[in-house]
Amino acid sequence: MEYAITTEGLTKVYRVRQTTGGKTETKEIKAVLDLNLRICRGELFGLLGVNGAGKTTTIRMLATLLEPTSGTAVVNGFDVLKQPVDVRRSIGCLLPGERSHYWKLTARENLRFFGTLYGIPTRVLENRIKEVLDIVGLSRRADERVENYSTGMRQRLALARAILHDPPILILDEPTAGLDVHSARMLRQMVQDLAASGKTVLLTTHNLQEAEEVCTRVAVIHEGRIVVQDTPAALRALSTGLDVLEVTCERCAPPGTQLGVATPRPLGESETAGKRCGTSYAGISAAAAAEIGNGTGQGGPGETGDLYLRRVEAGTAEAEATRHGPAERQATEDETGEDAIAGSDCLQIEELVKRAVGSRCQKCSVTVSRRDEGYQVVVKGRKIADEFPAIAVTLTNGGWRVTGFNVSRPRLEDVFVELTSSEKPVE
Ligand SMILES: Nc1ncnc2c1ncn2[C@@H]1O[C@H](COP(=O)(O)OP(=O)(O)OP(=O)(O)O)[C@@H](O)[C@H]1O
Ligand SMILES: [Mg+2]
Repeated sequence: MEYAITTEGLTKVYRVRQTTGGKTETKEIKAVLDLNLRICRGELFGLLGVNGAGKTTTIRMLATLLEPTSGTAVVNGFDVLKQPVDVRRSIGCLLPGERSHYWKLTARENLRFFGTLYGIPTRVLENRIKEVLDIVGLSRRADERVENYSTGMRQRLALARAILHDPPILILDEPTAGLDVHSARMLRQMVQDLAASGKTVLLTTHNLQEAEEVCTRVAVIHEGRIVVQDTPAALRALSTGLDVLEVTCERCAPPGTQLGVATPRPLGESETAGKRCGTSYAGISAAAAAEIGNGTGQGGPGETGDLYLRRVEAGTAEAEATRHGPAERQATEDETGEDAIAGSDCLQIEELVKRAVGSRCQKCSVTVSRRDEGYQVVVKGRKIADEFPAIAVTLTNGGWRVTGFNVSRPRLEDVFVELTSSEKPVE
């Protein structure tokens, strides 16, 4: 595998002098620590992290604007320390700040200036300028001074400048920061088109939805270190909030609540997690609900190999599963109070859910806990996210019914917050 960008133990420690109480001392800021990145050719790779995580420092080292304290970085096969000129030829950069253009010049004049600096021969430069202005949608405003441009137009011009010399690798530090929804979407599309045309793109962003939408892989950097590196989908599956479902039980359901069965949906659709069973599942089917409304816990649509379990009443010591065998859990003699019922319910639900997901993922874990108004079922497991995103547990008249269907896709944002939450903000 040939990589576009690799780093080995890349580290940057800033040394800043500070004076406190008349005493001057040198303080070390460990901005990037032992960074190991592997970015494949043609990837659209996102570097995510909270403020001060070390993203810009990393980008600046890769762009040869900053010397690493230790470690190595190779960009397009060139070492950033030993072959900086080759690295610069290989990359197009979009860095934050307003100093990327001459405001008194027009967009075309700016590109002419930078094109000449890049050493693009005059005979090809004018055509190339037309091409890039077209790519970023600025052809019609190309002869206006940049000082009259909006923020979005300036950012598009910055992208035009980054791709002017047709480099194979683009390094973009927060390319959509400060842009409105339309401009951000436009720029994202341009970046995706550039990646589709074969360019490798490394971008940083705070916008996790953006990362999720456009990036083929992302790395989360925290306090200078990579904490995880994977596809957005795989990262979402790391969320501890994965596939959480609350169910309402008969005892605590408000009067008039219709308890029903959520109809399985095709994978990929999403619904909101944490809604109460029977009241707000969009997937509920009237026919199924009616059936269950007078339900016996027998029969039913059977869309995912339904499982039924008779709820254990206190003192009856009876647990009975139908169709798919017994639940093998009997209430013990001392489980006669409310808590015992709840505990027993939890185990039964857990049993059912385990069986329902077991065929898809052996490694998943299922926990059921009692909540004020019902039960919370948490299913954790990588495969679950992709193949079996959620479990619906419904109380039927006299039994639990478990059905697999999509409830929610965990968001990258949730995983990000889990991975990067510190006691105090990074200084
Ligand atoms: N020139 C510098 N001198 C000293 N410290 C610096 C310098 N540049 C960055 N730092 C420090 O290095 C750490 C990482 O900063 P960096 O700008 O790389 O973070 P970032 O992830 O890009 O943050 P943001 O999302 O806010 O842009 C921070 O603690 C920052 O204060
Ligand atoms: Mg930054």
